[in-house]
Amino acid sequence: MKERSNFTSKLGFVLAAAGSAVGLGNIWRFPYLAAKYGGGIFLLVYLVLAVTFGFTIMLTEVALGRKTGLSAIEAFRKMDKRFTFIGYITASVPVIIFPYYCVIGGWVTKYLGVYLTGAGERAAKDSFFGEFISKPFEPVVWLSLFIFITALVVFLGVEKGIERVSKWMMPILAVLSVVIALYGMTIPGALDGVIYYIKPDFSRFSPTTVLAALGQLFYSMSLAMGIMITYGSYMKKQDNLEASVRQIELFDTGIAFIAGLMIIPAVFSFSGGDQAALNTGPTLMFVTLPKVFQRMGNIIGLLFFVLVLFAALTSAISLMETIVSFLQDKLKWNRGFTCTAVMIYAIIMGIPSSLGFGIWDHIKVLGMSILDFFDFMSNSIIMPVVALLTCLFVGFILKPTAIAEEVKSSAPFKAEKSYSIMIQWIAPICIVLILISSILSALGYISI
Ligand code: PHE
Repeated sequence: MKERSNFTSKLGFVLAAAGSAVGLGNIWRFPYLAAKYGGGIFLLVYLVLAVTFGFTIMLTEVALGRKTGLSAIEAFRKMDKRFTFIGYITASVPVIIFPYYCVIGGWVTKYLGVYLTGAGERAAKDSFFGEFISKPFEPVVWLSLFIFITALVVFLGVEKGIERVSKWMMPILAVLSVVIALYGMTIPGALDGVIYYIKPDFSRFSPTTVLAALGQLFYSMSLAMGIMITYGSYMKKQDNLEASVRQIELFDTGIAFIAGLMIIPAVFSFSGGDQAALNTGPTLMFVTLPKVFQRMGNIIGLLFFVLVLFAALTSAISLMETIVSFLQDKLKWNRGFTCTAVMIYAIIMGIPSSLGFGIWDHIKVLGMSILDFFDFMSNSIIMPVVALLTCLFVGFILKPTAIAEEVKSSAPFKAEKSYSIMIQWIAPICIVLILISSILSALGYISI
């Protein structure tokens, strides 16, 4: 059998995994959640959860991948045949997410096109976004373009495609976010926003702060969808696993934090300190920010959408690679054919999500648009279930020592003691709480 391809270096692995983790969630969702849940206090809670809960699950997934050298389905099968079903549920997540993630990726590509052609002031009009996403054809064209670029990188392979692209996109992304944040903080009135964002207001602390942070953490770190298992399977045996996971977390949380600095102060200054301007959900990035960019200059808008496109692309690549990888592991198809098949699937499945904002906007599932429904099913239901099953499987069937051994095969495992307690008890309890709160919020009992 052909040897499995590998990331050539630890840096390559860390940047590719960080590329997956850093996505629309960091740049758009994190800042508005932070603003909604009291700024600094949300940051603090998020940080504590990232180094405990996030670390535990990510380390587990990467170790499972590296230990078995296989993607999710076959990895679970190899460890214990009876639990192959966990692999199947895990694999269903990227299959659901990839098409609709590309719909949003298509929107980002369109906005970059608008700023590239110097037409930023058009994007700043109130009606621009709504008119664009409700069109039947144009968003599908952008969606297809976005998928095509993603497929091309995945087709080129782990080393020549994913690693190479991540190695230049991720540093540029980091630099751009710092530049835009610094610039945004200098505009008049921005400082109040910085203070609001950073200073913890302990009176705003509540259980929903923790739940919102937990849910965000999951999504942001690309956990519970087989991605980290797949990327772990491409990691070299001699590379330090624990340190790599810490670095990926640092990158992901760092970019989320800087995104907050990039967006909150600028929107604060634009809205004269009105926090409601931040709490506009998806329209924050596509409607409010273009107005802010009109004041800051088109070039900032352009740089911003380059950054967002890189973030979305590297995440989409990881989703597609995960699907391609389990199809290849299972069916032994060749890469070109697999990539083409997944590309066609994603375009066909992306179309309903896209049309759900236009000619199909009367179709509602559980009161949600088609895209929101897929998002809800994957993020709020299947992912917590996958994470729970993974923790229980590793904690009680496989045993935490198996993961510890894998970590120790390359370097001493510093957090070994706390790891067992986390994976067996604390993480499962946190996950059950996320699951209950997602269901309650979908039913309208609480709002998160
Ligand atoms: N982690 C990504 C983000 O923060 C989201 C993502 C979800 C990436 C699913 C890949 C797959 O936006």
